[in-house]
Amino acid sequence: MIRSGYNPGVMSKQGMEKFRRRLLAWFDEHARDLPWRQTSDPYAIWVSETMLQQTRTNVVAEYYPRFLQRFPTLEALARASQADVLASWSGLGYYRRARALHESARAVIAEHGGVIPRTAAVLHRLPGVGVYTAAAVASIAFGERVAAVDGNVERVLTRYLGHEPVPGAARSGQLRQAALQMVDAKRPGDFNQAMMELGATICLPRGPLCLTCPVREGCATQGEHPAPRKRKMLSRKQALGLVQRRQWPKSEVLLEQRPADAAQMPNMWELPAVKAGKEGEMSLLLTVRHAITNTNYYVTVYGLANDEQKLLAKATGERAWIPVRDLHDKPLTGLTLKILKRLKVMPGYSGGGLAVVVGELARDAEKEFA
Ligand code: ADE
Repeated sequence: MIRSGYNPGVMSKQGMEKFRRRLLAWFDEHARDLPWRQTSDPYAIWVSETMLQQTRTNVVAEYYPRFLQRFPTLEALARASQADVLASWSGLGYYRRARALHESARAVIAEHGGVIPRTAAVLHRLPGVGVYTAAAVASIAFGERVAAVDGNVERVLTRYLGHEPVPGAARSGQLRQAALQMVDAKRPGDFNQAMMELGATICLPRGPLCLTCPVREGCATQGEHPAPRKRKMLSRKQALGLVQRRQWPKSEVLLEQRPADAAQMPNMWELPAVKAGKEGEMSLLLTVRHAITNTNYYVTVYGLANDEQKLLAKATGERAWIPVRDLHDKPLTGLTLKILKRLKVMPGYSGGGLAVVVGELARDAEKEFA
């Protein structure tokens, strides 16, 4: 319910000034201590904003320092092979972002003398740099007064201004226009991050914490927000085979590379599928749920001996034996990474051992996409 007599979308000059003051004071006191907030390096900020586009903050906080350690500068990233970049992105999902970031780093070297453009308009011309990322980087790294409107900010603005919630409204122009007028001229980067922070910690999609909101006074809806509809998830089943061999002195795993023209996750490596109907002849190792956008994959992994490869389905791409110690350098799909860690083929999973793992339904929903 929108408060009666409220004129959606219209804010006085004083109203805007008050909004900025309160929001920034709140941000100064309550901003989370996130790793990308401790740098002024435009390259590092660009990496963080690219990772944050479709991935939760806590997941990015884990990957971001490792990625920067591996590729500390724009030059280092531009020099790297795509496979190395994808390997470092493995598990973050939406791999198109990694390819575009890599391509853009090369474009900055080739076309901008290695200097990252300072304005959103020029940044937006780089491959894969959308309106949001361009505005976030330009405002945070270079202090340009532009509005960075992501899903969180869209929700904050829609509620505050009393607009009808329309999915994708940030792209419609009206909301963006309002956001631009609101951005603080002296601290545009902090203002944008404060809006994101408000959306992520107070103005939550369900059950917003209005009593602790620094700008509740001027808010048109004040907690009476239509609940967003739950996304309907599809279910799919998959059965995969883990074939290992010990080739002294190393242990190897049989993986399959997705075709270069695959619509999703091209060139990335994964476990081969097993033949349908033969599951009874194989030993069950693990069941795991893996969410990719709107689909839950219920995956069963079977252990196969080297001489049982006839139980594998026909390969759709190249198969190769990958030494276990080289797995972290391969661009693995997020599901593959998850399985190999759970089964302790790769290090990194801190849950239970094999006996616990069998039959387990993983709850973490990881987004993975091309
Ligand atoms: N989401 C996108 N960019 C962000 C940032 N800089 N801080 C927190 N969450 C974000």
